[in-house]
Amino acid sequence: MEVFRESAETIRFLNEKRKNRQLSVHLVPTMGALHEGHFALIRAAQAKNSVLAASIFVNPTQFNNPDDFANYPRKDAEDLHNLEKLGTDVVFIPKVEEIYPSKPVISVSFGELGAKLEGYFRPGHFHGVALAVSKLFNIIQPNTAFFGQKDFQQFAVISQLVKDFSFPVKLECIPTVREADGLAMSSRNVRLNGEQRTDALILYQSLRHAEAQLKQGQKMATIKEEVKEKFISKNAVLEYIELADWELNTREVYSSPSVLLIAGVIGEVRLIDNIIL
Ligand code: PAJ
Repeated sequence: MEVFRESAETIRFLNEKRKNRQLSVHLVPTMGALHEGHFALIRAAQAKNSVLAASIFVNPTQFNNPDDFANYPRKDAEDLHNLEKLGTDVVFIPKVEEIYPSKPVISVSFGELGAKLEGYFRPGHFHGVALAVSKLFNIIQPNTAFFGQKDFQQFAVISQLVKDFSFPVKLECIPTVREADGLAMSSRNVRLNGEQRTDALILYQSLRHAEAQLKQGQKMATIKEEVKEKFISKNAVLEYIELADWELNTREVYSSPSVLLIAGVIGEVRLIDNIIL
């Protein structure tokens, strides 16, 4: 496995690989602290006659909260070991200065799509995601890039980015990997203490509860109140629970297909989840 810290050497290496051969490049972008959710993407990206590339970059521009950036788990040595075991060919793991040699002045906005849900509670988040992902696409030049359904709105935003900037890359969305009790795997889960870990189940349970209620004809307004009360009883904060269509337009009553999205704060840890109905 080749590990590169610099863009230039990554580009040189991949260009060499592509030369005279029918090789395609498959990319899994990550922020590290890898878990089974990331590994599912890596496994999905493994294909014949292709170079399996992963990136590890805790991208400062997508963190609206400086404490969240500072406390984001970092496990580079363990991550590289796991990526090698899984058969990754190339890992791009740049320093912040490599990706942002100076403060970017460009601003990426996704209109309504990027202003709601995550965009509302994390202003500037999708601008940062778009910057980092665009840079990774330009450096790695992947044929296919893999993302998780866990970040449903992120996938919608990146699909729009690819469309609007004509990035010659195909996107794949991989289903959410969960712990045995249903909690969506997340790098942030390691920041939960024992009690908070149990309380964190409230996200997935609320989604399943809401699904059952919706399918009996209940309206979102009523469901939101119930879920909010449940969060308060656990000393947790519900940021949103919304029913939406594929373009993230919110709905009041169930129709197929829909996605249910939730975000909440348990202790000091902000978690998100979603299910497709
Ligand atoms: P990160 O949170 O590390 O996630 C990397 C990828 O793994 C994302 O596409 C995410 O949706 C996926 N993922 C995370 N948890 C998952 C789970 N439980 N099941 C399935 N997939 C899961 O998302 C980011 O990093 C960043 O925003 C990034 C795209 C790298 C841009 O900086």
